[in-house]
Amino acid sequence: MSRVVVFDEFGGPEVLRVVEQEPAEPAIGEVRVRMEAFAVNPLDLMMRSGASPAPVPLPHSRLGVEGTGVIDALGPQATGWRVGEPVLLAAVADASAQGSYAEYVTVPAGRVVRRPAGFGVAEAAAVWVAFSTAYGALVEKARMRPGDHVLVTAASGAVGRVALQIARRIGAVPLAVTRHAARKHELLAAGAAAVVATDQEDIAEAVAHHSGGTGADLVLDLVGGPGLNEVAAAARPGATLVVAGFLDPRPTPLPAGPSLTTHGYRSFEHTLDPVVVQRMAFLDAGVRLGALRPAVDDVAFSLDTVVEAHRRLESGLHGGRKVVATLS
Ligand SMILES: NC(=O)c1ccc[n+]([C@@H]2O[C@H](COP(=O)([O-])OP(=O)(O)OC[C@H]3O[C@@H](n4cnc5c(N)ncnc54)[C@H](OP(=O)(O)O)[C@@H]3O)[C@@H](O)[C@H]2O)c1
Repeated sequence: MSRVVVFDEFGGPEVLRVVEQEPAEPAIGEVRVRMEAFAVNPLDLMMRSGASPAPVPLPHSRLGVEGTGVIDALGPQATGWRVGEPVLLAAVADASAQGSYAEYVTVPAGRVVRRPAGFGVAEAAAVWVAFSTAYGALVEKARMRPGDHVLVTAASGAVGRVALQIARRIGAVPLAVTRHAARKHELLAAGAAAVVATDQEDIAEAVAHHSGGTGADLVLDLVGGPGLNEVAAAARPGATLVVAGFLDPRPTPLPAGPSLTTHGYRSFEHTLDPVVVQRMAFLDAGVRLGALRPAVDDVAFSLDTVVEAHRRLESGLHGGRKVVATLS
């Protein structure tokens, strides 16, 4: 049997419960993964509370888009994998049916990638969604180049921190935005070349200062909402803006101001792209060199404490570090 987190109605963390069910046998082209850890993402909170942009079928919806484990069984034609191989779940697209909050998850083989050597289980569970979102948005979509001044909002969050590390690896100049000046030292230590604290500074003025007067060449916005205009005002004319997050639930207006090339980015739409091979090479090298490392929250959770894990993320007490649950 597999212990699985489900919910039957939308609501607060308390709607989550653990049930036992038969693990699905892998069908053609599928693999079954015995999970070792999963991470909690803002999208999970949106799905659970009924705020997800995609419909969530109730009752008995599962949850969780990422995690790590070992291959436990192979379906016919699931070539290239062997039982016992450690893998990451690469953004489970149908989380309500095959979510990662479970002891066993059965997914198409294309939805797993090799687990990079050099990570503990908690870091491995926390890396893929943040890494693939930041890499996909900055490198694949916006073609970030060495020397670019790259402005990253919600930089203390999971995606933001990895974005700072990727920009550094490529030789760009990452400028981090936080709402709290108290986070400045932490973000400089996390790889930011400079930090803009919106409780003390105007974003456009600060970015002009840090970019020699020109403004940002590239903006990765993970917040959305009306504040996007203020963020976009820090970009130079002709810059690229990628909107990839929605931490502010209010509507996001199209930014006024200088001519910007604007993209939306959703990593789920790109998980099966052939470029995933390039992503893996970048990730492997970054992990090997110690340049890419997700920040994991210091409070550990399990399947039985998943309600507390959701409360932790919702309260903001995780400080932008990834909330992870491990399975024994
Ligand atoms: N497009 C995609 O494919 C994709 C993939 C993954 C995630 N996302 C989205 O990207 C966003 C960030 O995800 P994450 O996992 O990095 O989140 P996270 O780890 O929870 O990070 C949140 C950080 O953002 C800042 N923040 C929180 N609420 C904010 C608000 N209302 N206004 C401004 N800043 C706020 C906080 O930093 P300070 O307190 O320091 O300001 C916080 O530390 C989420 O909306 C998530 O759903 C999108």
